[in-house]
Amino acid sequence: MSTKNTLQSSAQGDPATDDPEQESQNDSNKIWGGRFSQAPDSLMETINASIGFDQRLFAQDILGSTAHCKMLVDQGILDTKAGDQILNGLERIQKEIEQGSFNFKNSLEDIHLNIEGRLGEIIGENAGRLHTARSRNDQVATDFKLWIRDTIDKIDDALKGLQSVLIDQAEENAATIMPGFTHLQAAQPVTAGHHLLAYVEMFGRDRSRFQDTRARLNECPLGSAALAGTSYPIDRDQTAKALGFDRPTANSLDSVSDRDFALEFLSSAAITALHLSRLGEEIIVWCSAQFSFAKLSDAFTTGSSIMPQKRNPDAAELVRGKSGRIVGSLISLITVMKGLPLAYSKDMQEDKEPIFDGSESIGICIAAMTGMIKDIEFNIDRLREATEEGFTTATDLADWLVRVLGLPFRKAHHITGELVKLAEKSNRKLEQLSLEEMQGVEARITDDVFSILGAVESVTSRTSYGGTAPQNVLSQVKNARERFL
Ligand code: ARG
Repeated sequence: MSTKNTLQSSAQGDPATDDPEQESQNDSNKIWGGRFSQAPDSLMETINASIGFDQRLFAQDILGSTAHCKMLVDQGILDTKAGDQILNGLERIQKEIEQGSFNFKNSLEDIHLNIEGRLGEIIGENAGRLHTARSRNDQVATDFKLWIRDTIDKIDDALKGLQSVLIDQAEENAATIMPGFTHLQAAQPVTAGHHLLAYVEMFGRDRSRFQDTRARLNECPLGSAALAGTSYPIDRDQTAKALGFDRPTANSLDSVSDRDFALEFLSSAAITALHLSRLGEEIIVWCSAQFSFAKLSDAFTTGSSIMPQKRNPDAAELVRGKSGRIVGSLISLITVMKGLPLAYSKDMQEDKEPIFDGSESIGICIAAMTGMIKDIEFNIDRLREATEEGFTTATDLADWLVRVLGLPFRKAHHITGELVKLAEKSNRKLEQLSLEEMQGVEARITDDVFSILGAVESVTSRTSYGGTAPQNVLSQVKNARERFL
C-alpha cells in the first residue's frame, strides 16, 4: 500500500503525469527494479529523490560519462559502435538540458539516473552499457568534485575582483586619516588605505585556502566503482587525465566515502564569509549618522518606507547575515558525515544542498561587497575630526618622552596619562595644553613636543614594515597588485 505524501509536493522538476505512481514504478523498475516485486512507496520517492537539486551537476555528469565511455572503448570493454551511440546520445542530452527541454523526473531519483534513463530513450539498450565498471557512488563523487573545482575557480576570480577594488580605494585613500580602533575605542591614527589593505590580506589568505582545497581535491574517484574497485581492465589514469585531475584516488573505499573536499570547501567559504561579515559590520558602523565616516552609493542603499531620512546599508547587513547561513552549511555537512561507516551511505546525498546554498551565498556576498567597496565614499573631514577626538596621539607623546628625554617607556606612559587627564578635565585636546601646563607634569618637556601631536605627523612617522604611513600604503598597494592581481 502506498502512503500519499500530503505535506508537500515532491515535484521539483517533476513532470506532469496522469499517474505519478505508475510512472514511478515503471521508471524505477527500469533502472534497478530487477530484484523488486513492488513499486516504491510514493513517500520513498519524496525522501529519496535528489533531482530537484542535483540537476545542477548535469554538465559534470555528462563530462564524467563521456570520459568513462571513451576509456571503456579504448580498453576494448565497449565496442566502438555502442561507444559512439552513447557519446552522441550524451551530447544530445546536454543540449536538451541546456535548452530547457529535458524532462527531469523525480521517479528517476537523481541526475545520474535521469541522464541514463534518457539515454535509453534515445539510443535503446546500449545505454545500459555505459554503467559498466562504475557505480553511482564513484560517479557522484567525481561529479561533485568537478562541480566544486569549477566553483572554486569562480570564487577565486570573484575574490580577486574584490581585492582589486579594495586596492584601488586604498591607493586613493593612502593618506586619508582615520581613527584606528581597539575595543572599538579610538586608539591611534591610521590611514584608511592601510585599513582597507588589511582586508586585501584576509581575502588573499582566503584565496590560498581555496587553492589548497582545490589541490587536495584534485584526485579522480572514477573507477572506484561501488566501493571495491572493479574486475574490468579499466584505465583510471586515462579518465583522471581527461577530467583534468592530477591522478586517480588511491583507495576505492576512501574514494566513494570521502567528502573532505566538500567540508574543506565550506570551511574556506565560512572563513571568507566571516571576513566579509566583519567588513560588512564596519561599513554599517561607518555609515551610521553617529560615525558618518563613509557613504555607500545609492545603488547599495535602501530607504525606509516610513522614515524619509533613512539610508539603510541593507546589502552590508545581508552580507553579515548570510555569513551565518554559510557557517550553517558547514556545520550541517560536518554533522551529516560524522557517524558514517565506510563506505558510501545515502546520508551523503545530503551533501549537495549545503554546498549549493553555501556557494550561491558566498558568491552573492562577494559580488555585493565588491559593488559596495567600488563606490564607497569616505568622509575625509569627518574622519579627520574623529581622529582628533579621543587623544589618539597619546602614544606619540609617550614615544617622544622616550626618544627625546630618554625616559623609560613605562614612566613616559604614566606622564602621558597625567597629561591626558589634565586635557580631559578641561575638555581640550593634548595640543591645546600650554607648554607651561605640560612642564607642570614633566619639567623637561620642550616646545618640540607640539610637532608630534598631530594625526598627520603620527601616521607619517609609522614607517615600520607593515605600518600605517601613507608611503607604506603606496608601496603595499604596488606590492598587493603584484601578489594578487
Ligand atoms: N544521488 C546519490 C547521491 O547523491 C547518488 C549516489 C547513489 N548511490 C547509491 N548507492 N544509492 O549520493
